[in-house]
This record gives sequence, C-alpha cells and structure tokens, in this order.
Amino acid sequence: MSIARIIMQNVAPIGILDSGVGGLSILRAIRSVLPNERLLYCADSYHAPYGEREDSFITARTLGIGRWLAEQRVKAIVVACNTATAYTLLTLRERLHIPIIGVEPGIKPAALWSRTRVAGVLATTSTLKSARFNTLLSQYSGDCRFICQGGHGLVEAIEAGDISSPVIIRNLSTCIQPILDSSADTLVLGCTHYSFLLNALYTITSDQLRIIDTHKAIACQLVRQLTEQQLLVNTDTTITHSKTTLSSVLLRLVSTGNAAQLAHIARKLIGVNVNAEHVKIASELL
Ligand code: DGL
Repeated sequence: MSIARIIMQNVAPIGILDSGVGGLSILRAIRSVLPNERLLYCADSYHAPYGEREDSFITARTLGIGRWLAEQRVKAIVVACNTATAYTLLTLRERLHIPIIGVEPGIKPAALWSRTRVAGVLATTSTLKSARFNTLLSQYSGDCRFICQGGHGLVEAIEAGDISSPVIIRNLSTCIQPILDSSADTLVLGCTHYSFLLNALYTITSDQLRIIDTHKAIACQLVRQLTEQQLLVNTDTTITHSKTTLSSVLLRLVSTGNAAQLAHIARKLIGVNVNAEHVKIASELL
C-alpha cells in the first residue's frame, strides 16, 4: 500500500450507527479517547425504536445503513446498538470489508463481579430474545443467575429528550423492580440509549446495584482495532479544535428522520453543537 493511500485512509471518518440517539453515548466515549478522529453518526430516527421490531426489519435497516456509511468512505463502523449488533453484526462483516465493531451487554464482567451471584440485564425485547444474546448468556453467566428485563417505553422517551421526568423515572422503576426485588447486586445496561438514564438509575437503586455499561470498553476496542490496522488518524493531518465547540469537520450528524431534533438532542445529551442533515437510506435485504 502506498504512503498516499495510508494517509487518505487515515483521515476518513469513523461511522457510528444506531436506531436513534442511543449511540451518542458511544460517540461521546469515542471522542474522549480519539479526539482528532472524524466521526459520522447516523441515527435511523425515522425507524426508531428497533427494540420490538421483526428480526428481518432490524437486519435490513442495519445492512442498509452500513452500506450507506461504506459509500461515504468510512474507515470503520461502530454498530452502537445492541439490537442491531445482535441480528446483523456477522452479515455486516461479511459484506463490508472494513473493521466493524459491535456492542453487547456486559454479561461477562457482571458474572465476574457479582458477589450475590444474581445480576439484572435491562435491554430491548429484541436483544433479549436474540440467539446472539442467549449464546452470550450461556457462555459467560456460569453460576450467576441473570434476571432479564425489557425496557418498555424507555427508548421512545429518550428519543424525545426525556431522561429525568417523573414519568420516565416511574417507568424505569417498573422495568427494574423484579431485579431490585431479587438479591441482585449488579445491573447490566444492554441498550445504548439507557446510558443516558444513569442518574435516574442511581436515584432509583441507591447503592444496591453496580451498573455495568460497556461504552468505554467499546471505545477501547475501536482504538485497538484502528491501531492494529494502522488506521488511526495521521498526526500530520490532526485538526485542532476546542473541547466545547465541535467543528463540523470532525463531526457529521445525519438522521433518516427529523434532523433538527437529532441536533437538539445531541446538544442536550452530550453537549455537541453541530447541525444535522436529513438523509434517505434504503434498506438492504439479506
Ligand atoms: N440503542 C439501541 C440498542 O442498544 C436500540 C434501541 C431501540 O431502538 O429500541 O439496543
């Protein structure tokens, strides 16, 4: 490979996808370890939430968005959605020949950490019923019992920017009550949207549960893969920017739904101040 090609690849953006705004929690973690990388975030807001959709629908949307990101010449893709990862990660890897990183509920760390040997998982219904999640459970749970709860209605509220109203606190409490009623000492967040409910969760659970969220681990995994494949941005091409003002050179936000809403929620949830564009992305069949 020529030097020119290496430099071209290294300034290419990293694609990040989610059904909506949940993947912004992963984007924030990536920015903190890779502040000079260009990021292209795609929210499939028109079709959100994915969590109670048919498997074939989730797959077709994720493949379509992966294809669209590849056409934008991203150098790697982070599937910042547990539901999309559960159904589509392997097919995406077969179809697109760039590094693809997925997210999975942290069953392994929870099973290692739990003292009471009871842990909870809060994830979408689709993630919980997927073969990939159930394989993860049987591989890593060992003697730890996992109480799996679907987070009904939570994603819709977060998509609307609600992370702390009495209504979402009540809904969240209902979702995790069976976990609180057990002797669980650990809670795995199995949906990237739920990272934005951390404060609400601390309020509800006090100190009863240690919360396991894998966003930092995903960012580290991305750094490892880009390093191994020599794809980290070349320091000669580093763009300087202030921490608070994100240049649109470094971050592009796109939505298949309401772009202004995505920009608004991104400002509210992770403090980035960039406009978002509306895009149309076709689904891709298996
Ligand atoms: N943020 C996603 C996940 O991690 C999807 C939530 C949804 O669209 O229901 O599963």
